[in-house]
Amino acid sequence: MSNAQTFTVRVARKVIEAEDIATFELVDVNGGTLPAFSAGAHVDVHAPGGLTRQYSLCNDSAETHRYQIAVLNDRASRGGSRAMHERVKEGSLLEISPPKNHFPLAHGATKSLLMAGGIGVTPILCMAERLAVVGSDFEMHYSTRSPARTAFYDRIQGSDFASRVHFHHDDGDTTQALNINELLRAPQDNCHLYVCGPKGFMDAVLGAARANAWPESQLHYEFFSADVTASESDLGFDIKLASSGRMIKVAKDQTVTQALSAAGVEVQTSCEQGVCGTCLTRILEGVPDHKDMYLTPEEQAANDQFTPCCSRSKTAVLVLDL
Ligand code: FES
Repeated sequence: MSNAQTFTVRVARKVIEAEDIATFELVDVNGGTLPAFSAGAHVDVHAPGGLTRQYSLCNDSAETHRYQIAVLNDRASRGGSRAMHERVKEGSLLEISPPKNHFPLAHGATKSLLMAGGIGVTPILCMAERLAVVGSDFEMHYSTRSPARTAFYDRIQGSDFASRVHFHHDDGDTTQALNINELLRAPQDNCHLYVCGPKGFMDAVLGAARANAWPESQLHYEFFSADVTASESDLGFDIKLASSGRMIKVAKDQTVTQALSAAGVEVQTSCEQGVCGTCLTRILEGVPDHKDMYLTPEEQAANDQFTPCCSRSKTAVLVLDL
């Protein structure tokens, strides 16, 4: 559970945007302005039932009177999105964090390639609108299962950048299918790739980009959920707190944050799935077993930080900067 600073917003509007997708317009309870955000930002929403979920902001980033989020009612979810669909109505009050941006647009790109899969369109659409406003070159590819499940179709088609957006549907004919490998075949200098969507889609896009030698510095991505699975090889290990020298045991079936919490040491968490970076903690000694989707491959390889909500240790002891 997060203990980050939060504030209360009111749901001013809830609209069914596409099949299983609802948008929520959030406003200040007193009609005031909201903290500013930039394209790619998200807020942590404390959904009814106690789960905290990250939702990207998908309205114009110049607006300060509202935030718009879109939520997929994911049947496989742990309950956060279902609670948003079923229990949050117009007039409901929600606790949210101020916007955070782990997925910002790079400065000075000559071109941006925006790739969205399903509900991953939320930060990507915000980026497209921003790039259009500042007159920067971009191309957007938006893949969904079907037209009925394509959120923001009318908004995109009615925009002045509609001709730069390519829609792809799994149930469409082969001429409109997204050919990821072809699209990413030739990396261009200073062309930045942004991708957001389900894990399979992101793995395919990032895998193709890396196979085609796109520089890691030109790849930008945000996972919004991940399956952190326990594996047979997960073992127990010890955490040492650098400040006090105290040793804490992490059992085979326990996360590091659970073990720390049981010992009275709280690390701030949010997603608890290795996607948001809230729990990021510095490592002073030992080798972590990274299981997150938040750090880049280079950051993981440096082994000087990890996400204790899901990552573990390859060594018997991990010394943390706590
Ligand atoms: Fe989100 Fe650990 S709490 S990465």
